[in-house]
Amino acid sequence: MARVQLKNLEKVYSGTVKAVHGIDLDIEDGEFMVFVGPSGCAKSTTLRMVAGLEEITGGEVVIGERRVNDLPPGQRSIAMVFQNYALYPHMKVRGNLAFGLKIAKPRAEIDAAIAEVARILEIEPLLDRLPKQLSGGQAQRVALGRALIKKPEVFLFDEPLSNLDAKLRASMRVRITDLHRRLKDEGRSSTVIYVTHDQTEAMTMGDRICVMQSGRIMQVATPKELYNHPANLFVAGFIGSPEMNLLDGLLEGADFVLGDQRVTLSDDMRQRLSASPDQAVLGIRPQHLALSDAGLSARLTHAEFMGHEVYLHADLAGQKVVAVVGAAEFDRLGRAAQIHLAPDMQHLHIFDKSDGRNVSLHREGSLAA
Ligand SMILES: Nc1ncnc2c1ncn2[C@@H]1O[C@H](COP(=O)(O)OP(=O)(O)O)[C@@H](O)[C@H]1O
Ligand SMILES: [Mg+2]
Repeated sequence: MARVQLKNLEKVYSGTVKAVHGIDLDIEDGEFMVFVGPSGCAKSTTLRMVAGLEEITGGEVVIGERRVNDLPPGQRSIAMVFQNYALYPHMKVRGNLAFGLKIAKPRAEIDAAIAEVARILEIEPLLDRLPKQLSGGQAQRVALGRALIKKPEVFLFDEPLSNLDAKLRASMRVRITDLHRRLKDEGRSSTVIYVTHDQTEAMTMGDRICVMQSGRIMQVATPKELYNHPANLFVAGFIGSPEMNLLDGLLEGADFVLGDQRVTLSDDMRQRLSASPDQAVLGIRPQHLALSDAGLSARLTHAEFMGHEVYLHADLAGQKVVAVVGAAEFDRLGRAAQIHLAPDMQHLHIFDKSDGRNVSLHREGSLAA
């Protein structure tokens, strides 16, 4: 049972390269926390400071009640799973799992631990195979087992699925979150910090997600909250697929003006605005633009047929915009090149272009996600 706290955590590499800029984060006991962000934003550096694999330049890491800054990895109650999980090639699966135990234990105890982990991960039939006789997914499960067998209080994952193909990745996602839940049900609640650059992985796995950019936290929230109420342009553009449309324009009174077109903001929206920047960005997800008779006029440039849905790519006053519409709706369009897109006003965002802040966020205490 351990919560993990990062307090003003900093990392400077080789005296000059500041990778982590004073991060504060509380990860609750038993929580599945995902660090997500583009390559180079310092996800791994932060995780490695928690693990004890990277020296901490400033601030503190607290695991449970202990400040662990000066403890070696072996004394931090953590286990880590990497992208390159490198099993020992000359050892059978059984041996690889036992290796995770490190400390010498009676034979019977080791066998019981292996049996338990093999049961949980459903790798019993693989115990006497060598790593080269395993598929990628099986090998990754063994790597997971090597962490699990330690019974750590905190699991640290660094892009563990990046080397797997898309299909396997999807099934491993489910397996890992399922494992986390089952351990909790069995009274072995464990805290997880899971690093990924993949927003889908973050959205589907995390209890909460910490979105990072350039060594700073952009927002920490549940997947739903991040999706519905992104705090800034970065989070808005990073979370969600296809990406949110972010259109440059001007805020003029009650109107958002894009070239020769305008969107009149609802009263509710105007009341919510915490600032009225002249240079603004309108954010609307492709799913929240509907084909209509009126609305914003756009020129259809390309349609991607996805089966149930069609992604419409259009030019709206010189800016690119994407709308997701139903296949049947698309069929009714016929061959029209000029279309009208009506934004769902409930799901519109206004950002200040100068600092990227979402100035149309719901107020504190009205977390209607
Ligand atoms: N050993 C190192 N020495 C110097 N700079 C490093 C080192 N490791 C990482 N960095 C730099 O720190 C930043 C964060 O890297 P990293 O934590 O690996 O990012 P991520 O895991 O999000 O891709 C990057 O700018 C990277 O170049
Ligand atoms: Mg990394």
